[in-house]
Amino acid sequence: MANDKVDILLLGAGGREHALLMKLAESPRAGKLYVAPGNGGMMQLAELAPVNQDDPDSVASWAESNGIGLVVIGPEAPLVAGVADAVRAKGIPCFGPNADAAQMEGSKKFAKEVMARAGAPTASYRSFTDEESAVAYVRELAGPCVVKADGLAAGKGVIVASNTDEAIAGLHECFGGAFGAAGNLVVVEEMLEGPECSLLALTDGTTLVPLATSQDHKRALDGDLGPNTGGMGVYSPVPILLDGELDAMVRIMQSVVDQLRADGITYSGCLYGGFMLTKDGPKVLEFNARFGDPETQVVLPRMQADLIDAFIACDNGTLADVPISWGDDWAVSVVLTSAGYPGSYEKGKVITGIDAAEAMEGVTVYHAGTALGADGSILTAGGRVLDVTAVAETFELARERAYAACDLISFEGKTYRTDIGLKAILGRENL
Ligand code: AMP
Ligand code: GLY
Repeated sequence: MANDKVDILLLGAGGREHALLMKLAESPRAGKLYVAPGNGGMMQLAELAPVNQDDPDSVASWAESNGIGLVVIGPEAPLVAGVADAVRAKGIPCFGPNADAAQMEGSKKFAKEVMARAGAPTASYRSFTDEESAVAYVRELAGPCVVKADGLAAGKGVIVASNTDEAIAGLHECFGGAFGAAGNLVVVEEMLEGPECSLLALTDGTTLVPLATSQDHKRALDGDLGPNTGGMGVYSPVPILLDGELDAMVRIMQSVVDQLRADGITYSGCLYGGFMLTKDGPKVLEFNARFGDPETQVVLPRMQADLIDAFIACDNGTLADVPISWGDDWAVSVVLTSAGYPGSYEKGKVITGIDAAEAMEGVTVYHAGTALGADGSILTAGGRVLDVTAVAETFELARERAYAACDLISFEGKTYRTDIGLKAILGRENL
């Protein structure tokens, strides 16, 4: 691989982007690092770029004027808005799919149609543009189903309905505008059963390299109770996979990338497959067009690769030439949140103890909602504040280290789940 230095602009402000930035900074090729909008942790490693991350022209023009050699896009909104297209149009390498490929996340109907053509197993479904026909359909189903707003809804546009009344209420929410324009088109699908498992993969549009499996914890409270959140904790790899399940997930993801190419769409970047491990094999719940948050915070620390080489290779179609390997270690990450999240919460609380936590073997603390205070102190600035991640040779040790590190960190209102990864240790039927 070339060893020229590359100046990088990374878009995003979460724990995912802090993990991406730290891994990019490890590369001997890392030149100047810029972020937008960034967070308190990212600002310790990079400079702020004065761009609007969702505005294709703003990002592409600034990258061109500042000699950027790689733009890395963390979140979905800039991808769907066409930021990658604009950057590539300037001849600048970009990590993340163009807007047409990002429809795999931007439109659930689009993703379902690609899966149907690819023969990828997923829940059976129908899509609707008016409430009346959708209500008639869920009455006909007369049982559990899942109602999904078609477009981006910040992770909130999915209603898992255990009966017809809940489904009708969900349809009313979607068509009533609760998710904005994302709900003008609604997908109603079969309810799948089984444990969930996510798989991240890098792809250049032809070669697909699976990274690692992981499992998020969406609900706010222990025991998977309380409201949905952006994710309260995660581990990798998923220890309860049966023989053949990983291969099946990789085959499904490859088939989708191949189908898109046959349709004239190059998907390059990270493809995130969300799967239900049903008794008939893995079935797709959703695709995301980017790295998962907080999944990235347990997958990247375990990955042995030069991330700059890998990302540039995704852009220029040479991913097959990049060495990527994995140790047999385990990672567990616990998210520390501000009291009240995912409802309203206070900001600006001083955080202490991050250095002590990071002094522990195998521990890294990724910043999510933090900001740098004028005196250099670290302040809370969001609902999800820190991702306390530990890597170890066993699942149990990684989990113990992550929780011991959480104890060393203090801020007013610090809140977290105490059962991250517990079910995985207890076995498959509990996941
Ligand atoms: P999605 O954003 O499509 O992954 O949906 C969010 C969550 O809703 C998933 O992680 C699942 O827990 C649940 N879900 C989505 N689709 C289905 C389905 N067809 N059957 C059962 N649960 C589902
Ligand atoms: N953790 C789920 C996501 O990134 O969409």
